[in-house]
Amino acid sequence: MQQQTEFSTAIRRKYPEQVVIAIARDSDGKCNPITLGWTMITSGKPPMMAISVGLPRYSLGVIRQAGEFVIAFPSAQMAEEALFFGTHSGRDMDKLAERNTPTRPAAEIDCVLLSEAVANFECVLESELKTGDHVIFAGRVVAAHVNEQEGLQRLYTLGPGYQMGAVSPQPAEGED
Ligand SMILES: Cc1cc2nc3c(=O)[nH]c(=O)nc-3n(C[C@H](O)[C@H](O)[C@H](O)COP(=O)(O)O)c2cc1C
Repeated sequence: MQQQTEFSTAIRRKYPEQVVIAIARDSDGKCNPITLGWTMITSGKPPMMAISVGLPRYSLGVIRQAGEFVIAFPSAQMAEEALFFGTHSGRDMDKLAERNTPTRPAAEIDCVLLSEAVANFECVLESELKTGDHVIFAGRVVAAHVNEQEGLQRLYTLGPGYQMGAVSPQPAEGED
């Protein structure tokens, strides 16, 4: 049986929600990470991924201007970092430097990868779509990287108030 209710009530059933960290280089030369829950894979051939960035975010102009960005899948151990990147703005600080976050240069674009992430995807911006108070950026994946450390789990938001952690069990290698 279904009970009609407000969007704000029904959408609370979405958890767990995947978490990604998108990174783009700003005009000062610093790479700025933003934590995002609203993200998806949008194409297999060519591989494409999308992120939804709020209009007030510093990252909005940075991604537009850079024309490229990295999408990192943070590991469950990166919960504090994800919370920090998702509650502070690159307008005010260098978030990666502040957290001393390990990074390495991206291979195909002018950006960085998060060394401790489960996976990193280098994207070239292909298009954007304004959807209400957010803008969806769609990027073509030009390089992908995986963390070789075994047993790393992805980070999810588990409930309201940005409670984050792992969701078990993880899919076996080879499954979509
Ligand atoms: C778990 C989590 C999920 C978030 N999801 C989104 C999202 O999907 N889109 C968005 O625009 N902001 C999202 N945010 C908020 C931004 O990360 C936050 O406003 C950030 O400080 C913006 O950084 P910036 O000003 O450097 O771009 C999320 C934050 C957290 C902690």
